[in-house]
Amino acid sequence: MRAAWLVVAACVCLSVCPGAQTLGSLVQDGTSFEAAMLRTGDAWEIVSRAVEGPSYLLNSVRGDGLTRLDLVRENLAGIRAFLLGRERHEAARLVDEALAAVADLRLEFAMAVPDQAAASGLSAEVTSACVACHARYRDGNAVQGFRPRPGLLD
Ligand code: HEC
Repeated sequence: MRAAWLVVAACVCLSVCPGAQTLGSLVQDGTSFEAAMLRTGDAWEIVSRAVEGPSYLLNSVRGDGLTRLDLVRENLAGIRAFLLGRERHEAARLVDEALAAVADLRLEFAMAVPDQAAASGLSAEVTSACVACHARYRDGNAVQGFRPRPGLLD
């Protein structure tokens, strides 16, 4: 009985919480895959710029960065679950590498004494993980638009 109520509560929360649409678990087809990537890209662009900027040492910047890193993580986690559900293990492994790099950077953001050089190095690792997966699984370009390489989603 108690378990049943917990399930009901979780469902209600997922459907009404304002952040629910950012949950990557909603990745279920090519359209939601692309939307999750766009959210990842938007959040990551702001974080990576902040890491290199003059105000990185301010708490507010790092605090905002933590929130945005969580957005990156949620969206990548949803993409990972979607890929695993379709048995795309190699692609899911590349997402794991990006998630591990995000987790390392998150630890640095939360440090009491910020180290911008360390954050910059860790941020470069996140970007390398994104780029590695794009090189393998993404077609197109910024002018004509991007699309998944045939075979990834179909
Ligand atoms: C599965 C491996 C994979 C990983 C890891 C990955 N991406 Fe992607 N990304 C893709 C694929 C495939 C597409 C093309 C999807 C589409 O356009 O439908 C894409 C598209 C994008 C787009 C363009 C969306 C569009 O269509 O305009 C952005 C921006 C983006 N990714 C950012 C990122 C960032 C930032 C990271 C790392 C934090 C990342 N991606 C990690 C596979 C990946």
